[in-house]
Amino acid sequence: MDHSERQGILKALVEHLDNGTTADAGGIMRLPMSDYTCPQLLAQEQDAFFRNVPLLMGFSSQLPKPNTYWSDNATGTPILMVRDGEGRFRAYANVCRHRGSLVVPEGRGSKLRFTCPFHAWTYGIDGSLLAVNKSCHFGNVSSAELSLIELPSAEWYGTLWVRPSQGDPLDEDECLAGLQNDLVHWKLSDHPHAGQQIIDARINWKLGIDSYGEIYHLNILHRDTAAKEVYANAQTLDRFERNLRMVFANRKIDLMRLSMPIQSRWPYKHITSTVYFFFPNVIMMVDAFGVDLMRIFPLGGSPSKSRTIHTWYIDPRIRKHFEAQGMSYEDRLTRFREVVEEQDYAMLEEVQLNAECGTQSEVVFGRNEAALQHFHNVYRSETGRELLQVEDV
Ligand code: FES
Ligand SMILES: [Fe+2]
Repeated sequence: MDHSERQGILKALVEHLDNGTTADAGGIMRLPMSDYTCPQLLAQEQDAFFRNVPLLMGFSSQLPKPNTYWSDNATGTPILMVRDGEGRFRAYANVCRHRGSLVVPEGRGSKLRFTCPFHAWTYGIDGSLLAVNKSCHFGNVSSAELSLIELPSAEWYGTLWVRPSQGDPLDEDECLAGLQNDLVHWKLSDHPHAGQQIIDARINWKLGIDSYGEIYHLNILHRDTAAKEVYANAQTLDRFERNLRMVFANRKIDLMRLSMPIQSRWPYKHITSTVYFFFPNVIMMVDAFGVDLMRIFPLGGSPSKSRTIHTWYIDPRIRKHFEAQGMSYEDRLTRFREVVEEQDYAMLEEVQLNAECGTQSEVVFGRNEAALQHFHNVYRSETGRELLQVEDV
């Protein structure tokens, strides 16, 4: 995202605010509500979206230096990620080659070797089996054949990607699809991990994704919270193959319009919220606080349950401000959680309930809900289903 692209986005937002227009899908689209409830579809999605494709796991600052690790079970496949002694990012299936226990419990830290808590086999940070406990009693096994199973992984522009199944190396162009310059612009590696929280909800995982894809609801559902900071119905939208980017106008844009006639000097990050969708399950929001990453997964094998893992990577300048003012990271995480859990997801639990009742067969995505139209046709395309048509209205 270069300077001229940011200027183009700001110009479009100002036009939308002045003219009462917004990014327009060109028509409406109807989605069968069974997409939120079908167990067979969920089984297909588990393979298509959570086992056999690269997933954006987090940012490089999760593994801040050589010989650090991050063990994460969120995808459904326990994954051990490390930055090895040479600083290289690598990922392994977190499964002991002896009897299949988790080698490393969930969490992050610094270690050179990992000892399995079941019978104490020990692995190196390069995945090699270093020692078999009481090997003289156990019997001779070949260490070379019993290293941790390595998974395809990549680190691009401050982001960490892993595919939970073995196979070909990851393809940068396929995963980032033209968003490389945006990632470079945001300097993600400079944003330290500020906190993480888990939000479980009785909603399909795709409803969770939907909730970040439109601001049509902002002045209604969030009138006393997010709507005080962000304008509803002024947004841009750009598709990057399966991914997309939306930009919303922060109300501080009014101050700039009054006080700073030269638009190219406006502080872009302080007057916008830039929201990305990274296929298949990640929403990334950039604003003055830094970057919030929402990784959304099906939960417990149920089409009616999902888990959102929210991680906040703080802007280094805001971090200094927080520290100088004695402000708490926890307070900001709690405020964020209250909006998502008590407003968005509480409303979507009602949608899920109605989807399960089957009284109504479809929902309608409006012209101003273009991102939702995009998400669902991407999901349908990737599971080999018929695409939904845009109806010109
Ligand atoms: S299962 Fe890990 S040492 Fe036995
Ligand atoms: Fe919302």
